[in-house]
Amino acid sequence: MRVILLGGPGSGKGTQAKFITEKYAIPQISTGDMLRAAVREGTPMGLAAKKVMDAGGLVSDDIILGLIRERIAQDDCRNGFLLDGFPRTIAQADGLAAMGVELDRVVEIAVDDEEIVKRMSGRRVHLASGRSYHVLYNPPKVEGKDDATGEPLVQRDDDQEATVRKRLEVYHEQTKPLVDYYAQAAAQGRARFATVPGVGSVEEIRDRVFAALG
Ligand code: AP5
Ligand code: ZN
Repeated sequence: MRVILLGGPGSGKGTQAKFITEKYAIPQISTGDMLRAAVREGTPMGLAAKKVMDAGGLVSDDIILGLIRERIAQDDCRNGFLLDGFPRTIAQADGLAAMGVELDRVVEIAVDDEEIVKRMSGRRVHLASGRSYHVLYNPPKVEGKDDATGEPLVQRDDDQEATVRKRLEVYHEQTKPLVDYYAQAAAQGRARFATVPGVGSVEEIRDRVFAALG
């Protein structure tokens, strides 16, 4: 199964990705997590990406396509993968198609902007795994600690309100056109496309996403 999860910043892609990767036994490929790993390692690419990410912009298509090309060639991707946060531009979607990747499903999680701003202020993350929590809506078992490792949770540098608003603007301009792009692809008999409403409990959204994938 090759799946794309589309959706704005904070729409719940990472949260839902965990359920999908367990159910279908496919790896989650989050370009955001890959970039944050490069930032932590302090590679030249990571340092350059950090500036762009902290400003709420998009890292260049060339860099992102290079990361994806390398990642999907790995052994664990043979039976499929879940793309989270990629593609984000038409050029990235075209680049993916040019790699010969045939998609099975594209699912958009739709959440309105004001709900997203509320969610991001309460988000806490475990950086090493990418697991996300919310202080009210999706709290960890022990306050401030990751459920699986007990390691501390932190706020992401790009979760300040001004940066979130900029990320939303970039999403509407550059990424939202992919909804039409994949709806058209679906009309031509390529990957099935569905939009699921992303407001409700984490489990409700999970069931909607599973129904869209099923
Ligand atoms: P990335 O890491 O991809 O960030 P994003 O797309 O902005 O999405 P988020 O990770 O912020 O949100 P999410 O949808 O995963 O939501 P989550 O599940 O955490 O990218 C970061 C940056 O990297 C970009 O801005 C860009 O600079 C760069 N980048 C990455 N990929 C790129 C690419 N392909 N091209 C160019 N640049 C790229 O949930 C959010 C919060 O809501 C959490 O607190 C969660 O607990 C809570 N929550 C989840 N579900 C619910 C629910 N149902 N109800 C209430 N709260 C909920
Ligand atoms: Zn995410």
